[in-house]
Amino acid sequence: MMNIEETKTNIFNDQKPGTSGLRKKVTVFQQEFYTENFVQAIFDAQGDRVVDSTFVVGGDGRYYVKEVVSKIIKIAAANRVGKLIVGRNGIFSTPAISNYIRKYKTNGAIVLTASHNPGGPDNDFGIKFNCENGGPAPDQVTNRIFEITKSLESFKYVPNLIIDIEKEQSTAIQVGDRKFVVEVINPVEDYVVLMKEIFDFPSIKELVHGSAERPKFELIVDCLNGVTGPYAQCIFGTELGVGESSIVHSTPLEDFGGLHPDPNLTYASNLVDTVRKGVYDMGVAFDGDGDRNMIIGKNAFFVNPSDSLAVLADNLELIPYFKKTGIKGFARSMPTGSAVDRVALNKACDIFEVPTGWKYFGNLMDAGRLSLCGEESFGTGSDHIREKDGIWACLAWLNIIAKLGKSIEEVLMDHWKIYGRHFFTRYDYEGCESLPANEVMIEIVSLIQNPKFIGEKLSWGDKTYVVQKADDFSYQDIIDHSLTVNQGLRILFEDGSRIVFRLSGTGSSGATIRLYIESYETNPSTFMMDAQVILKPLINIAINMSKVEEHTGRKFPTVIT
Ligand code: G1P
Ligand code: ZN
Repeated sequence: MMNIEETKTNIFNDQKPGTSGLRKKVTVFQQEFYTENFVQAIFDAQGDRVVDSTFVVGGDGRYYVKEVVSKIIKIAAANRVGKLIVGRNGIFSTPAISNYIRKYKTNGAIVLTASHNPGGPDNDFGIKFNCENGGPAPDQVTNRIFEITKSLESFKYVPNLIIDIEKEQSTAIQVGDRKFVVEVINPVEDYVVLMKEIFDFPSIKELVHGSAERPKFELIVDCLNGVTGPYAQCIFGTELGVGESSIVHSTPLEDFGGLHPDPNLTYASNLVDTVRKGVYDMGVAFDGDGDRNMIIGKNAFFVNPSDSLAVLADNLELIPYFKKTGIKGFARSMPTGSAVDRVALNKACDIFEVPTGWKYFGNLMDAGRLSLCGEESFGTGSDHIREKDGIWACLAWLNIIAKLGKSIEEVLMDHWKIYGRHFFTRYDYEGCESLPANEVMIEIVSLIQNPKFIGEKLSWGDKTYVVQKADDFSYQDIIDHSLTVNQGLRILFEDGSRIVFRLSGTGSSGATIRLYIESYETNPSTFMMDAQVILKPLINIAINMSKVEEHTGRKFPTVIT
């Protein structure tokens, strides 16, 4: 029998979860009791439901995951949790955790990830709480956790409880008068089963192998040394027969091998360079915890995530899962380009616009109102789980290509011919000081608060845009009626173009300014043009009006998508 101890702790006032959980430098989490406090607060926030509950624990394999798993085991045991399901070696992708929670009806999960942020002793760590629907905790829950951290006096743990998480095994321990079980499992198995239920694997297999009618469709997958490695090896390698050399960076590493595991044109440039050589028909990359994806076609033809969402929406019936469930509705986060809105209109389907962050899709899915959703930040997913899902997005594209028999570029061109093209770009000014970043936002607020701003003409070169509406985006959930405010400053123009400014809510320190720009073209001669060229007037208008350089000293953004 093992004993419970209670230790007095000191309070940390900075444990407010952001867009996606609590994210800080590893060194912050390593402070004495910092991690323990947050984990204790998660269990306290459960109230009586914690008694005999089952939680899933795992993460993206980054530095400090294993240490935190062993802390969670000790604290859970002392807080009357009945059972913990732990991914072997602490590995569990975010989408696979969401699936596990739903499939086995567990009470939720503690997900150890800082997603696409770099890893290693000097980089980032994160703790995210997911609820029993499999999705990230909504604001009410994260707020409750935060409130608890501000007055926490002690935490409980079982000091002698040590479990070997390198072996798949189940261990039952007597803790005080209760039984506590830790089950270390293979984190890949159930997820692979789910993917095979959703997609037409035989057709995808034929696509990537080639047939008498069609040459082999060459695919290359880059896991950026994140958690998707073992999933990709099993799904693309074992199940679909993609060669080993086409599944790269597929061993999860604590520091992601020095890579920044964010699948975009800047950080996945190795993949982009490889695909640009013209051998591969498709390249795909995933982020650290496996929920993001980037899709590129032959010669590195870039598929903007907002377009990817629209194309998937338009072709969803080609995927067996949606043939079965029907299409219940679409959604996107506010800054995401509105290409999908046109598909929704065409299909007479609902389309919802929610704040940034996957947690806002959950209620709609639970209420059966939403089948497919996405964000411009390389997140795409469906109601098969309650997280975005990188591997799912890749399989969805492969499934659609297998049925349409076209290249990625042809699919996009055909889409634009029908719907017109929404040009979209995002500028990120990463690692700014907080104060100047706020000044940039205040600059815009003071502009849009002026009643004369509506109707104002903003020009650059020979282009002029008339302001139709400007606000700070807020959202009322149609299911639980909760109101979320301050979700981004929007300037909407009469021709449907948009400028949006937001501060990132996922950084671990400082501030990141995000500038989103969108315009809509119906003239086919523009379709193959570079978004940066088409959007230049709007970009310049946005940069000038925000005085971003004046405030932050930044001449250029750090990342352009
Ligand atoms: C970013 C993305 C957002 C995404 C989140 C978690 O949040 O912009 O779309 O949901 O990461 O992956 P941000 O840093 O902008 O708050
Ligand atoms: Zn992620």
